[in-house]
Amino acid sequence: MYKNIFDSHAHYTDKAFNIDRTDLLGSFTESGICGVINCGADLESSRESATLSNQYDFMYFACGIHPEEVDNLPSDYLDTLKTLSNNKKCVAIGEIGLDYYWRQDNKELQKKVFVEQILLAKELNLPIIVHSRDAHEDTLAILKEHKPKGVLHCFSGSVETAKEVLKLGMYIGLGGAVTFKNAKKPVEVAEFISLDRLLLETDCPYMAPVPMRGKRNDSSYIPYVAEKIGEVKGVDPQEVIDAATENTKRLFELYL
Ligand code: NI
Repeated sequence: MYKNIFDSHAHYTDKAFNIDRTDLLGSFTESGICGVINCGADLESSRESATLSNQYDFMYFACGIHPEEVDNLPSDYLDTLKTLSNNKKCVAIGEIGLDYYWRQDNKELQKKVFVEQILLAKELNLPIIVHSRDAHEDTLAILKEHKPKGVLHCFSGSVETAKEVLKLGMYIGLGGAVTFKNAKKPVEVAEFISLDRLLLETDCPYMAPVPMRGKRNDSSYIPYVAEKIGEVKGVDPQEVIDAATENTKRLFELYL
């Protein structure tokens, strides 16, 4: 039985948890989970993340606009995020970033909203939680220019990209994808990355690790990810969990 598990990226406000959210979150302490960062993806889920995290000692939240949610943003969205961040449970601006997998016709708008939120995070002295899919080149260029603190979550890039991210002082978040049979790059990154720069995450309800792949994910499945990373690196899974938890607390300044 593992302990000291910190899920650095979850979406417990998702409707997939409507059926049993209270029971599930209530079972976490018994499951060895010591912390969760719940991420917003738009203004509504950011607000809900604030409300939910205020109900659980172990839960923190990030507020932000995901690249798939950049259309029709109110002109004062940054003020709303700023207000939401004025809460002791708010530990980051996220998730924010670029996603060219789903949309390529609004790249400029995605970049604008990403940069605006990075500047807000810097103003507030908060780290960012970055989503980057099929957009590693533009994401890196923006990160290099603005040099925020933060994490590249659900990292899907190559070892070469990982090196650039680490050089910027940022962390890399790994989740269920490292366990997938076709996962070549995440496994190479897991092998390469030193334990002091790695965060563990679910991105639940999505990305459930093997052998739960395709099911609803939750933080209690993180040990499958830690076991895979431990196997690749030749270290005990609990050691992977402990290192990632320490990194999460350091990055988000959580002195529990
Ligand atoms: Ni996410």
